[in-house]
Amino acid sequence: MYSRIIGTGSYLPKKILTNKNLESMVDTTDEWIVERTGIKQRHIAEDTESTSSMAINASIDAIESSGISSKDIDLVIVATTTPDQIFPSTACIVQNKLNIVAPAFDVQAACTGFIYALSVADNYIRTGMSKNILVIGSEKYSNLLDWNDRSTCVLFGDGAGAVILSADSSQGIISSHIHADGQYNDLLSVENNQIKMKGNEVFKVAVNTLSKLVDETLLNNNMDKTSIDWLVPHQANLRIIKAAAKKLSLPLDQVVITVDNHANTSAASIPLALNEAVKDGRIKEDQVLLLEAFGSGFTWGSVLLRY
Ligand code: ACO
Repeated sequence: MYSRIIGTGSYLPKKILTNKNLESMVDTTDEWIVERTGIKQRHIAEDTESTSSMAINASIDAIESSGISSKDIDLVIVATTTPDQIFPSTACIVQNKLNIVAPAFDVQAACTGFIYALSVADNYIRTGMSKNILVIGSEKYSNLLDWNDRSTCVLFGDGAGAVILSADSSQGIISSHIHADGQYNDLLSVENNQIKMKGNEVFKVAVNTLSKLVDETLLNNNMDKTSIDWLVPHQANLRIIKAAAKKLSLPLDQVVITVDNHANTSAASIPLALNEAVKDGRIKEDQVLLLEAFGSGFTWGSVLLRY
């Protein structure tokens, strides 16, 4: 049995913070941010908006587009590093507010969270334990930022994306690959509720690791890079995305890029990008998609699927 994406949804807070706005907050320039990261703006949640409220809005959108009812959902998984509270899990809050009667749990793998969550969901469907799974990535990183630290506060944003994965006998997720190596945890972590990152060191490991991950994913499926129709990468930095596209010899018009408008929304970035390209008609049925991410832990992973 395959896990097929039958619905996608997203939610972005209305409040937008541009690079120009940041120029008046820290010693930075629009030019530096665009040149080093590709980011032009990010969405920032209001105090009244939370990881769970954004997750619920994205889920409603995904359920509507899937054509199934929330009654048909038999598992809820939320990928997040920024839960409303330590417990209950964000997944339980979503499950309750959407009147879903199903088990619910969170997955925490920083920016790779959504790939980890898809990998877990795929195994529930393959083994016949679930038929319709709501998989969400939702993050409120604005809570974790030191707004005086120019090296991190310009990089992140808030938002949520969601998909409905459904059992399908013909096509869907072809393979998923997840990895972790905790020896690098001092390069990227949260201390005293604020992100600490040695950005240029993370950058080098991310580019090298994602290159190996592309090879691993294709080799595992005996596929050639020409089979990929779309790269839907985690949106941390345009230069990292371009390196992955180069590895696949993919032109940038076959790469879904949202980092310019969303910045890095961690576990939400892939479902946000996926929803955008599905809804505007770029991603079409039967096309082959490669989703990949790298994040704190370090964690990294990919999902290859036929849409
Ligand atoms: N504005 C202006 N100058 C700045 C800013 C800023 N906002 N931030 C840093 N600088 C300065 C630095 O102080 C440094 O100055 P110096 O040379 O005088 O010391 C200079 O710019 C260069 O700094 P670098 O850190 O070397 O810049 P780099 O080109 O590496 O870009 C960046 C930094 C954007 C963070 C990049 O390294 C990156 O994207 N790293 C990877 C991030 C990532 O993928 N993280 C994983 C996912 S996140 C997660 O899992 C939560």
